[in-house]
Amino acid sequence: MTVEGVGRVRKGDLQLTSVNPAQKSFRVCVVGSGYVGLTTGACLAFLGHRITCIDQNTCKIEAMKRGETGIFEPGLDKLLRLAAGNIAFTTSGETDLEQADVVILAVGTPSLPDGRVELSQVREAADKIGKNLTGDRFRVVAVKSTVPAGTGKMVKDLLRKASGRKGSTSFAVASNPEFLREGSAVQDMLYPDRIVIGVEERAAAETLAALYRPVLEQEFVPPPFCPRPGGYGFPALITSDITTAEMIKYAANAFLVTKIGFINEIAGLCDYTGADVTAVARAIGLDHRIGQHFLRAGIGWGGSCFGKDTAALLNMGSEFACDLPVLRGAVEVNRRQRLRAVEKLQHALKGVRGCTIGLLGLAFKPNTDDLRDAPALDIARRLLSMGARVKAYDPVTMNNCRTLYPDLEIEYAEDVISLAEGCDALVLVTEWEEFTHLPLASMAAVMNRRVLVDGRNALDPPEVQKEGFVYLGFGRGTGEKFEGDILVQREHK
Ligand SMILES: NC(=O)c1ccc[n+]([C@@H]2O[C@H](COP(=O)([O-])OP(=O)(O)OC[C@H]3O[C@@H](n4cnc5c(N)ncnc54)[C@H](O)[C@@H]3O)[C@@H](O)[C@H]2O)c1
Repeated sequence: MTVEGVGRVRKGDLQLTSVNPAQKSFRVCVVGSGYVGLTTGACLAFLGHRITCIDQNTCKIEAMKRGETGIFEPGLDKLLRLAAGNIAFTTSGETDLEQADVVILAVGTPSLPDGRVELSQVREAADKIGKNLTGDRFRVVAVKSTVPAGTGKMVKDLLRKASGRKGSTSFAVASNPEFLREGSAVQDMLYPDRIVIGVEERAAAETLAALYRPVLEQEFVPPPFCPRPGGYGFPALITSDITTAEMIKYAANAFLVTKIGFINEIAGLCDYTGADVTAVARAIGLDHRIGQHFLRAGIGWGGSCFGKDTAALLNMGSEFACDLPVLRGAVEVNRRQRLRAVEKLQHALKGVRGCTIGLLGLAFKPNTDDLRDAPALDIARRLLSMGARVKAYDPVTMNNCRTLYPDLEIEYAEDVISLAEGCDALVLVTEWEEFTHLPLASMAAVMNRRVLVDGRNALDPPEVQKEGFVYLGFGRGTGEKFEGDILVQREHK
């Protein structure tokens, strides 16, 4: 474990054992049991803590009591089974809150139309937690939800008000932002790059460091379905003041968004010059200062976090009259990328009116059923508004789409072949594993015209072209083989 720190908790001086050397197991309440709360609860229960997951959604809680996660998240159901003896689910939880050593706040923080963060779930949860902060035992309320700088102070005030305490030190507020990725949430929580803890007082940092000790010291036997990655050492523990911890989360997401925006900008230019952006990305990513991740050009990012978190950061900037042009540009590039897929179709089909377009994938990324801000929805809406017929196939999230967007006139197919039937073009929207080895010959045989827009640059152009398709990637050059490709392959060996 590496301990770093800024602010009041100084570098290297955290004593994990000063909490109580005997205390290995903490009583923890997790308020909000969505993607983050449920994964946090399941992982901490697996690591030996006693967890109560509290959510106001009765259907969710009833399903969790039956052992169902209610979301598609690889390994989460198995982890819950392993941790079953240590985890309970409730819609109330007053007694559990009263007895908890640590309360983790993991409720939603959606965007308002102007980009500000809607904090009503945080306020309501803080009010409920505060009302149950009785007795003199010290406990920590850790905010895991992504919240704007200054929210920690607001939560502290709300807790004080609801608990009726004035200036008491029997609880401390901390910021403990979460960096998990949907689709690999269990893996990210058991083997994180870093754990960030923002505090006002040292006792809170020590309590949370002790809570996460099994992860920080990797003191657990990995579950068989989620082995420790080869070469994984220990995560860093970063301690800071609360505002810095809150900002770290936004800055991390803003940086990732900027990286994707940058490569998409280069891909746009590659479309004109004929250069292949996949080789450009590979080559620049080999520079350790740049790194390989988040350099895949295509239709861009979606999901529950990037959109709302960048909007929140831009809004924070405007509140202080502090312009953030790099981030603003990256967000704008992303908005355009979705429409570029439609432009490519229009160009290849000479207009999409009356055409049938098949979407391969709906989820915003593979291994999740999450449709929040999914590019597929914008692409489908745009195509429908232009008079096209839209079909879709997704291995996991079609039922979600039917339920959440009943007015979206998508025709759902049972598999990739029935999707291709009668289509003029296909768009690869989500790079699910099964879409990286499509039965292209069989699909081509049932299509009306053969155009394939590879929205994730996930396919091999010659393989697609071999089956008679017009292949349209994002910045993938002319599709011809060049001497340069040979050099790239040599470097792979
Ligand atoms: N999903 C991600 O990949 C991810 C990653 C990192 C951080 N985050 C952040 O974590 C937070 C939670 O995200 P999520 O995706 O889990 O959201 P979510 O919408 O899936 O879950 C939030 C849950 O909180 C519950 N809730 C709301 N108000 C409540 C209350 N007063 N009492 C009890 N339960 C209440 C809701 O019913 C819901 O089940 C957000 O701030 C998000 O930005 C999300």
